[in-house]
Amino acid sequence: MRSILVTSALPYANGPIHLGHLVEYIQTDIWARFQRMRGHECYYVCADDAHGTPIMLRAQQEGIEPEALIERISKEHQADFKEFLIGFDNYYSTHSPENQMFSNLIYERARDAGHIERRVIKQAYDPEAGMFLPDRFIKGECPRCGAPDQYGDSCENCGATYSPTDLKNAVSAISGATPIEKESEHFFFKLGDFEALLKDWTHSGHLQPEIINKLEEWFEAGLSDWDISRDAPYWGFEIPDAPGKYFYVWLDAPIGYLASFKNFCDREGIEFERFWAADASAEVHHFIGKDIAYFHTLFFPAMLHAAGFRMPTAVHCHGFLTVNGQKMSKSRGTFIKARTYLDHLNPEYLRYYFAAKLGPGIDDIDLNLEDFRARVNADLVGKVVNIASRCAGFISKRFAGKLATTLPQTELFDASAAASEGIAQLYENLEYGHAVRQIMALADQANQYIDEAKPWVLIKDPDRQTEVQEICSLGLNLFRNLMVYLKPILPHLAEEAEAFLNCPPLHWDSVKTPLLDTQIHRFKPLMTRVEQEALEAILADAQAAPEETPTKTPAALAAEPLAETIEFSDFAKIDLRVAKIVQASEVKGADKLLQLTLDLGGETRYVFAGIKSAYQPSDLVGRLTVMVANLAPRKMRFGVSEGMVLAAGPGGKELYLLQPDAGAQPGMRVK
Ligand code: MSP
Ligand code: ZN
Repeated sequence: MRSILVTSALPYANGPIHLGHLVEYIQTDIWARFQRMRGHECYYVCADDAHGTPIMLRAQQEGIEPEALIERISKEHQADFKEFLIGFDNYYSTHSPENQMFSNLIYERARDAGHIERRVIKQAYDPEAGMFLPDRFIKGECPRCGAPDQYGDSCENCGATYSPTDLKNAVSAISGATPIEKESEHFFFKLGDFEALLKDWTHSGHLQPEIINKLEEWFEAGLSDWDISRDAPYWGFEIPDAPGKYFYVWLDAPIGYLASFKNFCDREGIEFERFWAADASAEVHHFIGKDIAYFHTLFFPAMLHAAGFRMPTAVHCHGFLTVNGQKMSKSRGTFIKARTYLDHLNPEYLRYYFAAKLGPGIDDIDLNLEDFRARVNADLVGKVVNIASRCAGFISKRFAGKLATTLPQTELFDASAAASEGIAQLYENLEYGHAVRQIMALADQANQYIDEAKPWVLIKDPDRQTEVQEICSLGLNLFRNLMVYLKPILPHLAEEAEAFLNCPPLHWDSVKTPLLDTQIHRFKPLMTRVEQEALEAILADAQAAPEETPTKTPAALAAEPLAETIEFSDFAKIDLRVAKIVQASEVKGADKLLQLTLDLGGETRYVFAGIKSAYQPSDLVGRLTVMVANLAPRKMRFGVSEGMVLAAGPGGKELYLLQPDAGAQPGMRVK
């Protein structure tokens, strides 16, 4: 038995989980579930990355303490992860006592060994806000092409990279003031001290070939000292021997892996040292996106080593998600939040699609919505679940739910069981797409067998009843083996299959012994098709979602930019009506939605409205509001929404339902 600790990168606590993030959490979760099914000791931990300037500023804008912000976001993240079946053993926060303890310890050990240096540097400073400005918070004209409104590190127009002092007419994105240059003492981690160690580690089987090449380039360019301190005001941990200086968020973020695991160990009585001591025999695997490889393959291993901890067994990088071939973008409506997806579709569809597209490399992966629909419908509904539905009816109706005592054709079953080691190797090596293709080939064989055996013909012959029972039992056992192989990807479907087959939880070796002579339960459809309307509704919701504007003041946030001018005839197409809320209720499983029953002056409409954060259902009943009455019905995960009610505000608690003056009657047109 192997002992394995698995982590995913810690999402920032200042924004929602989106489908891009989910590539990583799904990839990692599949691997962890696979390892557990193989009987290994495997723990999967994560946390919110809760420090840094953007989180500090966002809390200020919302007029709350950063602690309150990270608490709220953590709840949202965890709710999203849970519904996507991401099975963390522990989900923690980098703003925790364990993380402060480890950050101090690692810093102090590195310092005492002579790897920390202090130097005075010059940096952009916002005299009005009274703080140093990270590159991302300075805007100005590109020094190369002159494009306005570019960030302090790079130009989105011409791709130039530069330092913020090169920008022309630079302004602080926080206050609008012109930044000045100011000196201050900073702390540096001397990465160069670890060059030989890191070069050696790079070539000892811990990394993918593409990442090794990247590292070669970085070594070539030279390892610079890493600036690990930030001046107050900053949201993070104060450096122990330096009042007013804080650890840069990227110092304590990866240490958050240790902290989350320590928190878990203390709760569960597991020995932390077994995983993290310099000579630990357990494995530690980090899953990350390729954008943060530098931190995980250079800074973090060097820091761990400097402080006497083991270095990672492996860092697994994945590529970026694109939607319909393009970078996710709010303006194109392809920036899809986890929650928006969950409002309309079953999370296992996405788990399956990502698995089918994931390989061991760092290529970007594309979510093509049409391909997504076709693939899920063809593979999961059309092939896998279909096997069960073709066989189960006969067993229930003709054989009182009892499986046969022997299989008619052991070769087919044996072949499906024999695929086990090959598929396991593919999972182990993160070749999920390849594994899925092999599993679907087995599904094709099973369907082909049923096509040829024709139980629906044989059943008419009184002398061949036992044969039908055996054929269908084989079909169901082939289905069961598929569910074993798919269980890391589709844990919920596998659970439903276990319930239907009335068998104990499937583990990797379950394929060796067929289920015979036992009672199964009545078959209920295990999965429905992905409908076009659901995809359209997701895109519509993504388009409608307000932009996250983290650097604006509350007043600026309230005033969203005005939309493009439209003709009167465009406006006239919108049929706005006064509606009376006759009933309002919570929607099971939906965090943001209320279901409203609206009276339109005789006609009744059922509408889902994303206003739960601001209203109690009981406060709404009896109120008049305004609705778009001619919006095409939209299919959502919880039902069909027949229109839309109108509310103003940025969201959350700040949502204000429109209400006509007294005298207006339900059904009146608003014009
Ligand atoms: N907080 C840091 C990670 C600290 S780890 C000690 C961070 N957070 S993040 O929220 O921006 O990203 C979290 C993970 O999601 C990263 O591994 C990142 O690469 C990944 N992804 C974010 N957007 C993504 C896509 N569009 N596609 C695929 N993965 C993406 O970075
Ligand atoms: Zn430019």
